[in-house]
Amino acid sequence: MELPHKSRPLSFNIFFLFLLLSSNFLTFLTTLLYSSRTLNYEIDTTTTAANNIVTPTVIHQPEPKRDVTEVSDELQTTVNLPPEFRAYTSPQKLPFGLNTNFDSDKIIPPVGRPCTLFPDELRRYMTYEVNGSCPADELLAQKLLLKGCEPLPRRRCRPAAQKEYVEPYPLPQSLWTTPSDSSVVWTAYTCKNYSCLISRMRTQKGFDDCKDCFDLEGRERTRWTGPSVSGSLDFSIDEALAAVKKPGSIRIGLDIGGGVATFAARMRERNITIITTSMNLNGPFNSFIASRGVIPLYISISQRLPFFDNTLDIIHSMHVLSNWIPTTLLHFLFFDIYRVLRPGGLFWLDHFFCVGDQLEHVYAPLIESIGFIKVKWVVGKKLDRGQELREMYLSALLEKPLKNSW
Ligand SMILES: *[C@@H]1O[C@H](CO)[C@@H](O)[C@H](O)[C@H]1NC(C)=O
Ligand SMILES: *[C@@H]1O[C@H](CO)[C@@H](O)[C@H](O)[C@H]1NC(C)=O
Ligand SMILES: *[C@@H]1O[C@H](CO)[C@@H](O)[C@H](O)[C@H]1NC(C)=O
Repeated sequence: MELPHKSRPLSFNIFFLFLLLSSNFLTFLTTLLYSSRTLNYEIDTTTTAANNIVTPTVIHQPEPKRDVTEVSDELQTTVNLPPEFRAYTSPQKLPFGLNTNFDSDKIIPPVGRPCTLFPDELRRYMTYEVNGSCPADELLAQKLLLKGCEPLPRRRCRPAAQKEYVEPYPLPQSLWTTPSDSSVVWTAYTCKNYSCLISRMRTQKGFDDCKDCFDLEGRERTRWTGPSVSGSLDFSIDEALAAVKKPGSIRIGLDIGGGVATFAARMRERNITIITTSMNLNGPFNSFIASRGVIPLYISISQRLPFFDNTLDIIHSMHVLSNWIPTTLLHFLFFDIYRVLRPGGLFWLDHFFCVGDQLEHVYAPLIESIGFIKVKWVVGKKLDRGQELREMYLSALLEKPLKNSW
């Protein structure tokens, strides 16, 4: 930091001294409290669990002036975290002592760091009868997760399930047959059956994520099946598979935010295994995907992809990665995609959405900087809401280089 060389009035300097001292005093207090809590925690892990997670909320409080009683009130609330939460997140001694793989003699089960920022929701979520039935609280759980409490803490209860569960159809029939209504717990959704979901595009007003996706006789039927038209934003699966140098080398992959997993179903027909990430935004997306006979993965776009480096052959994502995601998060996300793709693997960025010159100034340079080879890159205007909005789409087929150049 640059300091001006002008001399300041004495009062000004004294004021600064005061600020310095008081902020140091606060730091000192926090340290003191923190170390006393660490001590407690050695003595009794059950009452002061989740210290690690909670500490930042103590330190990063914005108000500059706080006295000891205020701070201990706050400690009181953190200690008041639900007992089941503490039971799960407390460091647990490994029965056989030091484990060299873990480099520790205890294990600390993880939850999303922001969980404790929402104590009310967390308390409701973690309050249930141990060994009993979980409340039907899918909506609450998903809200908590989307706020950053991801992964959610585990619970010791049985999830709500249909009384008379109907088992899925066999493959390949299951891929294109609407499952039984009795395979879903409908509590969290506006619709209470599949016929309602299938007709909601025509019968219900307002926006819903993937509003027409449940209709397997509708648009889903023809997605990615071609024919490939040059200059079109809609690439076909066959066209994408033909883009790799070695035929048959695309076998496993991921579809990020894949709606009802029609991409995975189409790939399954080609003996390619695709895992589909999806939330349940006003629809039983995960249940539906599973009923079709492909794998749903219930993680948000914020979470690190649960795959090892250089492992997947293909990652696809349509309509999800777009300008609604904060640019820094998007930057991390693109690198994460790059990380899990194997060399020679394909990233199919399908209908990336943005406005006007955002593509040229922000997103194209961002995507280009990651290190992919451009196999296909098509930019088109999105005209469905009018030309004057200057909405744009990018569809791209990007390859992770076989030889690394970094
Ligand atoms: C739940 O079940 C386990 C295993 O039977 C038992 O040890 C525990 O005491 C039970 N907890 C409650 C609260 O019922
Ligand atoms: C599905 O739900 C709608 C209302 O959401 C209802 O009118 C209709 O009768 C239900 N259909 C079936 C087959 O249960
Ligand atoms: C998929 O695998 C099955 C069993 O190995 C085989 O019979 C079928 O021809 C394959 N389908 C395609 C499209 O490769």
